[in-house]
Amino acid sequence: MSIKLSPSVTWVGKKDWELREFHGMEYSTHRGSSYNSYLVRDEKVALIDTVWLPFADEFVKNLKKEIDLSEIDYIIANHAEVDHSGALPELMKEIPDTPIYCTRNGVRSLKGHYHQDWNFVEVKTGDRLSLGKKELIFIEARMLHWPDSMFCYLTEEQILFSNDAFGQHYATEFMFNDQVDQAELYQEAIKYYANILTPFSSFVEKKINEFVSLNLPLSMICTSHGILWRDNPLQIVEKYMEWAGDYQENQITLIYDTMWNGTRRMAEAIASGIRAADPEVTVKLCNIGRSDKNDVITEVFKSKAVLVGSPTINKGILTAVAAILEEIRGLEFKNKKAAAFGSYGWSGESVKMITGLLKECGMELIDDGIRVMWNPDADSIAKCVEYGKQAAAAVSKTE
Ligand code: FEO
Repeated sequence: MSIKLSPSVTWVGKKDWELREFHGMEYSTHRGSSYNSYLVRDEKVALIDTVWLPFADEFVKNLKKEIDLSEIDYIIANHAEVDHSGALPELMKEIPDTPIYCTRNGVRSLKGHYHQDWNFVEVKTGDRLSLGKKELIFIEARMLHWPDSMFCYLTEEQILFSNDAFGQHYATEFMFNDQVDQAELYQEAIKYYANILTPFSSFVEKKINEFVSLNLPLSMICTSHGILWRDNPLQIVEKYMEWAGDYQENQITLIYDTMWNGTRRMAEAIASGIRAADPEVTVKLCNIGRSDKNDVITEVFKSKAVLVGSPTINKGILTAVAAILEEIRGLEFKNKKAAAFGSYGWSGESVKMITGLLKECGMELIDDGIRVMWNPDADSIAKCVEYGKQAAAAVSKTE
């Protein structure tokens, strides 16, 4: 399948409706994804990126229906990760001498993946490649989200090929942002930012400011995953600036796991205390043992405070809680407050342990947390409600 997007650009990618896990098991893709590859035709022809390895054969076969492969003058590898470069080995069997334009780090990554000495051409920000009447301008986008990442911009048609940036794991029958359900689109876009780009927020701000300073007019952003932004494409750029700025909404999220419902009852009592103290705040409860971790991470991203609970088991915490805290640590969220809670039978280490892990996550601790022995009785539930009120006050006091 190919789809003409503009006078010179044709989409030649792959929609992956069945994808449910990405990056191994690291990222859930409830709505599938797409690997967007583009053919740009002028007097010369450039192919921008390819598709994920399992679709390499299908990609090359479809591309041959669209163009005689020998007519491709340049391949642009905006990013070496296998979801975009995976069809290169199959393609290069057919056109082995075609130059591959990428960053210096791109050469390293592509050689690292495929161990091939293809005809690489290194480019850097500001370099231009003439296609005839139009040019491609290269813009390095280091750490968005790999060291090799790059954008390129097509003059005249004013199209930014942004690779992973501004993307979403979202397969739909449509191509453009104005054709799809906006809530679905933004849910996938914010999940993508929260789970993939959060650690690189300082690079996001810098790169967007750099792009804006180039004064290049923008008619469309062609991402490498999901839909393309043609209706007010700057809306997603503005959203990224907002998300990169230590983003938070008026939300407090409670993440917990539970063995015999003691910690769950604590979570619900704390939540009711938060609501009583601050009716305006959104309170969300996530049993991490039963929830999708990437959806929970998205809730953390939106939160101003996170309360994490686990009962004590074997002098430690439940593994689902440990796993989500490890995920949160790696994502380096900024500007979040936090505290721990949990029930216990005898030794009761969980609250102290979670408190230490929250500190390692870079979160600002509200206090030393709250723990309750055995299944909470009426007094303990009342203490949890009161604790929720105090936590809400502590969060709003220092905002
Ligand atoms: Fe979509 Fe970083 O690959």
